[in-house]
Amino acid sequence: MRIIKNILTRSYLISTLVLLISSKIIAREFTQSVYSPSKVLESKFILRQDGTAYWNLLFNGDTIIKNSSLGFVLKGNDSLMRFRLIKCKTNYFNEYWKPVWGQSSIIKNEYNEIKIELKEISNSRLLNIFFRVYNDGFAFRYEIPVQSSLKDFVITSEESRICFKGKYDCWWSWADYNTLEKLFYHTPLDSATHVATPFTIRRSDNIYLSVHEADIDNYSTMTLKREKDEDQKYKVNLVPWADGDLVKTCTPMLSPWRAIIVTNKPGGLIESNLILNLNDSSEFTDFSWIKPMTYLGIWWEMHLGISQWYMGDKHGATIENAKRYIDFAAKHNVKGVLIEGWNTGWENWGKSDAFDFVTPYKDFDIVEVVKYAKSKGVEIIGHHETGGDTKSYERHIEEAFALYQKLGVNVVKTGYAGPVVPVGENHHGQCMVQHYNKVMELAAKYKLMLDVHEPIILSGLSRTFPNLMTAEGVRGMEWNAWSEGNPPSHTCILPFTRGIAGPMDYTPGIFDIDLSKHASERKKWNSLDNGNTSVHSTITNQLALMLVLYSPLQMASDLPENYDGNKAFSFIKDLPTTWDETKVIEASIGEYIIIARRKANDWYIGAITNEEKRELNISFSFLENNKLYKAVIYEDGEDAHYEKNPESMVISESKIRAMDSLSFKLACGGGLCMKIRLLN
Ligand code: NOJ
Ligand code: CA
Repeated sequence: MRIIKNILTRSYLISTLVLLISSKIIAREFTQSVYSPSKVLESKFILRQDGTAYWNLLFNGDTIIKNSSLGFVLKGNDSLMRFRLIKCKTNYFNEYWKPVWGQSSIIKNEYNEIKIELKEISNSRLLNIFFRVYNDGFAFRYEIPVQSSLKDFVITSEESRICFKGKYDCWWSWADYNTLEKLFYHTPLDSATHVATPFTIRRSDNIYLSVHEADIDNYSTMTLKREKDEDQKYKVNLVPWADGDLVKTCTPMLSPWRAIIVTNKPGGLIESNLILNLNDSSEFTDFSWIKPMTYLGIWWEMHLGISQWYMGDKHGATIENAKRYIDFAAKHNVKGVLIEGWNTGWENWGKSDAFDFVTPYKDFDIVEVVKYAKSKGVEIIGHHETGGDTKSYERHIEEAFALYQKLGVNVVKTGYAGPVVPVGENHHGQCMVQHYNKVMELAAKYKLMLDVHEPIILSGLSRTFPNLMTAEGVRGMEWNAWSEGNPPSHTCILPFTRGIAGPMDYTPGIFDIDLSKHASERKKWNSLDNGNTSVHSTITNQLALMLVLYSPLQMASDLPENYDGNKAFSFIKDLPTTWDETKVIEASIGEYIIIARRKANDWYIGAITNEEKRELNISFSFLENNKLYKAVIYEDGEDAHYEKNPESMVISESKIRAMDSLSFKLACGGGLCMKIRLLN
């Protein structure tokens, strides 16, 4: 369905300029360059005399990606890799578009594109390749058009390669076909042998690249595998089906975009909109039901082992407890409350068809609770844990979505914690891509916003389906409740890696850092729990994460009683979750980041550091000249330390102007937040 739409959308390209423009045929080798509008980036398509096709990439005239192969192998050892050129079209495209929510309220989408139409030498099959060059990156994708000699087919290898030129270090996590919940490594490039994307690397001359994919539809997701004995050459490695096939497809087929952000500062990776721009605009006509918000939830208490998802003495989702969260949310202007464990079946987790998605436990009444929440102006965020059983979920999903719609529940958090059904399928394979995209489309039909846990990696589809609000796909806060947890450096890497794919439901905002407040009530429920868990950051760092890790549905994940009476909570309750502008003031991947976000005339600053304490100097030159602002500043206390004294915080106020420059001390594992309001 969406394949056809993609092809049609491309006809929006405003001009088809020339055929074979400025192409060179050297010794019967065909090359076609395409430049970014700024001319900073250049990519060349190369068709060698033997019919093999390649791409490369230059930044300021310097090759950063050497000639890298293109093509496919289809089932039956049938290679689709030697071509003759039919034609090559060049287009320029330029637009501004307004996302429904996001890190900025207007996005420029400007690129030069070539469409290369190829015909296979031996079997005359047709294959087209699109190259797009933006000022902040490059992308290519394949199209296999409708043709009589190719209908249904199976891809057994995508022959796309990336051969990096230069000396690099990189931030990466192991490719895993079933989970994205990993820590990251920082190593020289040659240690990164099989990686998940976004894969972020830095050349020795400070060029930053991040490789990812965009617009994944009816294809499998990509990992990158370093080729043995080859110098810095990575091959696209697709996550397989249970039977070993990589992609089962038919013509017309459009692959996801293979995209690389290129920038000369780390913040450029975050400020780039390349992944969103590579997706189609939305066909929704009514966006009124899509509402970014901060939310609380009956959630952390289960992860801490204070309460449980299923019925019993310690059931979390009782009417009384839900009303307690709703009252607290209403009092503090927090718009949403997530309720996990309200529906029967949690005691069957791991069995087939375990969850009932419509029947509440006896001590919970969903009608009453949603009505109560509405009366207080609070949205209930529904929950569907599937345990990975997609078949069961697909059988019940319409009934379950219809119930939420009828009740007025507009957001649903989904979860896939467990092995996939159909048995043997990988979480990140084509089978699941089909499932996740189907759920996204059905959610749109029922006007439901989605927060997907254990998802496939995001690829910018929320441009087309803005109801796909956020996703986990990250080793998030929950790991601090029941494992050795996440080191402070983890959140200093995430904005430059996982964050490039899209919003992250990391669920920050824990105030009881050493988890001591309820220690006596906690019951171990997870084998990774060593009995000595804590959150590895200062409280100011937790506040800053609410701003640093972008999500339009942002969870303040601690318990109401841990927020109650703490002055720092006022930063959370006022925090917007959709922005007019975002600037990375300064950053060093894995070490620290200072990010500033604007909503109307107000600015918010969040900064975090890794295990090292540091002094950060902030120039306020992004503020309007000759205007006076009032800043409320949340800083680590003098004696703060993420392990020894995490809750030491100082809150102060100051008047600030654009000409000011101030320095702040961040503790080890610490942070800094500011709310800067325009006074005149
Ligand atoms: C794992 C999810 O990440 C978490 O948020 C959820 O609470 C549990 N699964 C239960 O569904
Ligand atoms: Ca999870």
